Amino acid sequence: MLRMYDLIEKKERGKELSEEEIRFFVSGVTDGSIPDYQVSAMLMAIFFRGMSNPEIFTLTDAMAHSGDVADLSGIRGRKADKHSTGGVGDKTSLIVAPMVAAAGCGISVAKMSGRGLGHTGGTVDKLESIPGVQTSLPADKFFDIVNRTGLCIIGQSGSFAPADKKLYALRDVTATVNCIPLIASSIMAKKLAAGSDYIVLDVKCGSGAFIKTEKEAEKLAKLMVDIGENAGRKVAALITDMDVPLGHAVGNSLEVIEAIETLSGRGDEDLTVLCTALAANMLYTAGVGDYGECEQRVSETLKNGLAKKKLADMIEAMGGDPAYVYDTSLFRESRISAVLASEGSGYVTRIDTEEVGKAAAVLGAGRAVKDQKIDHSAGIILHKKTGDKVKEGDVLATLFTSTVEKAQSGMEMLYGAVTFGDKPPKKKPLIYKTVRGI
Ligand code: URA
Repeated sequence: MLRMYDLIEKKERGKELSEEEIRFFVSGVTDGSIPDYQVSAMLMAIFFRGMSNPEIFTLTDAMAHSGDVADLSGIRGRKADKHSTGGVGDKTSLIVAPMVAAAGCGISVAKMSGRGLGHTGGTVDKLESIPGVQTSLPADKFFDIVNRTGLCIIGQSGSFAPADKKLYALRDVTATVNCIPLIASSIMAKKLAAGSDYIVLDVKCGSGAFIKTEKEAEKLAKLMVDIGENAGRKVAALITDMDVPLGHAVGNSLEVIEAIETLSGRGDEDLTVLCTALAANMLYTAGVGDYGECEQRVSETLKNGLAKKKLADMIEAMGGDPAYVYDTSLFRESRISAVLASEGSGYVTRIDTEEVGKAAAVLGAGRAVKDQKIDHSAGIILHKKTGDKVKEGDVLATLFTSTVEKAQSGMEMLYGAVTFGDKPPKKKPLIYKTVRGI
């Protein structure tokens, strides 16, 4: 008979766990038969000793099958998914999914997304800034919307990968989140359970990401591609910069407005380039054609208005008012807006992006604890970003919130997040590398 004590001891000594032992562990986590203190001890042993690829493949598969596994066979054609490891100002799903659906290549996007937690935002919270949008839908309605419009983004149901939910909650309080085998298996278990055959991962690195260095991000990207391919999916991972917030808007309705601007062909260059690369990779991974052709097909959707129409169609099908997509002045405005001005002249040499995300959360855009109500109109518009020249008195950012106290706190945090210097910093690439399976 297997005993958790022996498994912890085995991993603590750096030995490889067998498939039977890993499945015993995941099943005990899921049904609650292994107490939290033993699960936590195992997580810490994994944190220090790591795992081999076969161990990680088994762990991911066991977590993916610990609850419901989506059967997307009710959706016509090929299904592609994308996932970001999390960042600040990352509104790419709201742009990329409509681009793929509008490209007319028979690729649908049936996507399950999360809510924001901590300093990072979540697509579900962003979508809900449009009144009426229902992000919790039964499977038949979800399939129907994808079949009619080519896309639908809903909230991830708690019945998918429940083992990950429990493990993640324990990792969060035992300082074991930042562990590549655990991050890779956590993300990929949910992606495998969500059912798409073609998956594009946006692995973020830098001050606003979980992973701070390119080297670590590459390790994570390779591992996630290997996990997906081992499970019979086609996967590509882009390693992208999160050392500065993406685009200019941070906060829910502000980000939806920026996404709509981008879908109208008026987006920030960085955001447009990244969304085009992610959407093109989804088509390429699904076998639509050579990369140049895929890129051209998705770029066209921003020029001909079809991607914007797809977003409006999806919003209407999900119960929201599509007029918001054509008239962004309909979005509710925050009670208070305040500007942050530069006290000196020079260049913005660095932005602590995690701190920007935390400032937006303090303004009301995020949660300090699970289930906290958020203020969809709260957030930050950054007028200056890393590399920009500033003069004394220039407006660095506009903050949107509901009380003077929150504006004050957000302002202090934001000013502390920006570093100035006499010379412009070295420009970093937006996309470091693309990792593909074989
Ligand atoms: N996102 C996840 O879903 N899991 C992790 O472990 C880290 C980021």
